[in-house]
Amino acid sequence: MDTLSKLKSHGSWVGRWTFILAATGSAVGLGNIWGFPYKAGTNGGGAFVLIYLLCILAIGIPIMISEIIIGRRSGNSPINAMRLAARDSNTTSMWQLVGWSGIIAGILILSFYSVIAGICLNYIFLAAASGGVDSAEQFGNVTSSPINLLTWHTIFMLITCSVVSAGIHAGIGRVVKVLMPMLGILLIFMVINGILSGGFMQAFAFLFAPDFSEVDSNTFLSAMGQAFFSLSLGMGSIMAYGAYMPKEQKIISTSFTVASLDTLVAIFAGLAIFPIIFAFGLEPNSGPGLVFESLQTAFIEMDYGQIIGPIFFILLSIAALSSSISLLEPGVAFISEEGLLSRKNAAILISLVAWFLGIGTALSFNIWSDFNLTPGRNFLDSMDFIANQILLPLGGMFIAIFVGWFMDKNLIKEELGNVNPVLFGLWKFFVRFIAPLAVAVIFYNAIFG
Ligand code: PHE
Repeated sequence: MDTLSKLKSHGSWVGRWTFILAATGSAVGLGNIWGFPYKAGTNGGGAFVLIYLLCILAIGIPIMISEIIIGRRSGNSPINAMRLAARDSNTTSMWQLVGWSGIIAGILILSFYSVIAGICLNYIFLAAASGGVDSAEQFGNVTSSPINLLTWHTIFMLITCSVVSAGIHAGIGRVVKVLMPMLGILLIFMVINGILSGGFMQAFAFLFAPDFSEVDSNTFLSAMGQAFFSLSLGMGSIMAYGAYMPKEQKIISTSFTVASLDTLVAIFAGLAIFPIIFAFGLEPNSGPGLVFESLQTAFIEMDYGQIIGPIFFILLSIAALSSSISLLEPGVAFISEEGLLSRKNAAILISLVAWFLGIGTALSFNIWSDFNLTPGRNFLDSMDFIANQILLPLGGMFIAIFVGWFMDKNLIKEELGNVNPVLFGLWKFFVRFIAPLAVAVIFYNAIFG
């Protein structure tokens, strides 16, 4: 008997909005609120934003549509979804490797994601109580202690694991319905606070006036990596969530909604953070420490900073949690649908692996700070580089090639339903040619350029 037909099913999202909330929750995360502003800050502001937007449109959205098509068709984890789609398209089962690479990338990302998210949790409390301290010294204290980092990393991983253990409907679905509206409200509050802070116009100009002098081939690689990472593409999170999407929901318009919300949040995060940075005369290009050092300096000095600061870090922690659950889900879905372990035990197993790898990231802030895992990059930077700038774009490229060139047309049409033929043609053109070529060219330039 065909082993694929014995797979367990996971159930589906209840209600039309749940997929949108869950996928937006996956997309909106540290990448938007912590990563996007500091990367824009160090890569020439508006020029980076422009290239980033192009990557979202030309590469991100076409691939998101492809992932959902593959996922929803099978209702299973990315590995089996790829296997089924390949089988039904009469092509090689090697395509399932895309699912495997995704699950590995998910675990790698989760390992460092949880450490950074742990720092955010820690800062909720620090920001509430940090009158009169020096923010650089504070960040130093937070990151110099392996025990401190590991404690918060453990707490964050436990929360992530317990949500995923509870399942699609009772766990992830229920949690995103509460978290996402909260996130929206907190973010709007922070943007209003930015508008009132006095640095808004400067922040606006910084984010939207392009400075191309800072742009080189690495800017493209970094913007593309950021686009994949931010939309949660190339590793199966969206594919796994797509597997639980109700059949009547429209894939193309839903993808545009999710991508637009994700982009809006990234830009709003910039408009929440940079006005404060400028109002307090701080540097916008301080890198990964932007929110923990520069922004925290402003929270310490500003009126009501002990309220606004914690609100910001709660926002960041919520965003991180709704993403980390989607990093864990593909692997958990695979193990549990194969009947190898229960969902709960699968969640515990994968969380433990990611937790263990996370120790390397925690130590890269202190005793391993001089240890390079890959040339010129410490443990955290290496994980980030391997996952975001290599595995995700590569995974995304293969997904585009598979759907564009190998997947049976009828299967695709069945999933997309009635779509405007022009829109369909456009999408097809982008998945077949533009997305794979763009990834290849950007890789080529970053390696040989
Ligand atoms: N999109 C998330 C963020 O922006 C991170 C993520 C990447 C989540 C890949 C799932 C998959 O922070």
